[in-house]
Amino acid sequence: MSDAVRIVEVGPRDGLQNEKAIIATADKVALIDRLSATGLPVVEATSFVSPKWVPQLADAADVYRGITRRAGVDYPVLVPNLQGYERAREVGVTHIAVFTAASEAFNRRNINASIEESLERFAPVMERAKADGVRVRGYVSTVLGCPYQGAVPIADVVRVAKVLHAMGCEEVSLGDTIGIGTPSKARDMLRAVAGEVPMAALAVHFHDTYGQALANILSCLEEGVRVVDSAVSGTGGCPYAKGASGNVATEDVVYMLHGMGMTTGVDLDALVDTGRWLAALLGRETSSKVTRAKGANE
Ligand code: HMG
Ligand code: MG
Repeated sequence: MSDAVRIVEVGPRDGLQNEKAIIATADKVALIDRLSATGLPVVEATSFVSPKWVPQLADAADVYRGITRRAGVDYPVLVPNLQGYERAREVGVTHIAVFTAASEAFNRRNINASIEESLERFAPVMERAKADGVRVRGYVSTVLGCPYQGAVPIADVVRVAKVLHAMGCEEVSLGDTIGIGTPSKARDMLRAVAGEVPMAALAVHFHDTYGQALANILSCLEEGVRVVDSAVSGTGGCPYAKGASGNVATEDVVYMLHGMGMTTGVDLDALVDTGRWLAALLGRETSSKVTRAKGANE
């Protein structure tokens, strides 16, 4: 099995959507440009969601326009509906991510739709994307538990992941939105999904609320997944998921992978610098253990 892991950096989107303070557009652009310079292959840039629901990312168009595009780097954006798709296309987006959940209760709070309704909403988006040659990623949230519904049956995760893939999502990211899962549960869930969707089309997306994210990633790597979502400095969280905290820090994922002899193409020192820069901008300590350790050793 390949030792190469593709990291999908979600900090500029998942991280900044959950910040109380509104970050200046120029700082968001600077963050994305710094991240793309570290060798990360994918930097999720922003969301074309309703600015009433997520005012933090209301400047999506300006952010996207401001990025200095680096050859070989993908800059996907979140799109919840056709309106978001059109806004994204106006500024030249070529890679989008649609998102739904395995839990009805969470989906209702997050996008004001049932799972079925959300999939219906995606159908015309997928059609347009196909015609326009736009690539599509799909997210399934609450794959290991829901803040409102509690337990989420694995069969529900499998069903939604399978539909997204069949609709044309080239990659399906499985999100532990509230960071509640443990390694054996993560492995069982991934194994079940991989029974219906090729492993090469799957990604894992762990929030670190209960400190389980690296362990969960390891168990999923052992199962065969090779795409991992993470956020620099451990920022992140969904404003509509009660109790959700930051994503696993990209610095910590890269450190673990390199330590295991796996490759990411990422320059860890440059990433640590960027994490420090972001923590200073946000006015709080980084959540990355690696960045903290390196700071202490300098
Ligand atoms: P709604 O209120 O049901 O939608 O929201 P609506 O169609 O009735 O529209 C309401 C208003 O929003 C209208 O404006 C629309 O024009 C406008 P008004 O007429 O009142 O002036 N609107 C838009 N404006 C700009 N762009 C758009 C758009 N759509 C509608 N695309 C909606 C439904 C889906 C829009 C809303 O619920 C929404 O935007 N939700 C997004 C929530 C969100 O971004 N959550 C975080 C991302 S998911 C996540 O973090 C999980 C993930 O990381 C994986 C994991 O961790 O599990 C991906
Ligand atoms: Mg997330």
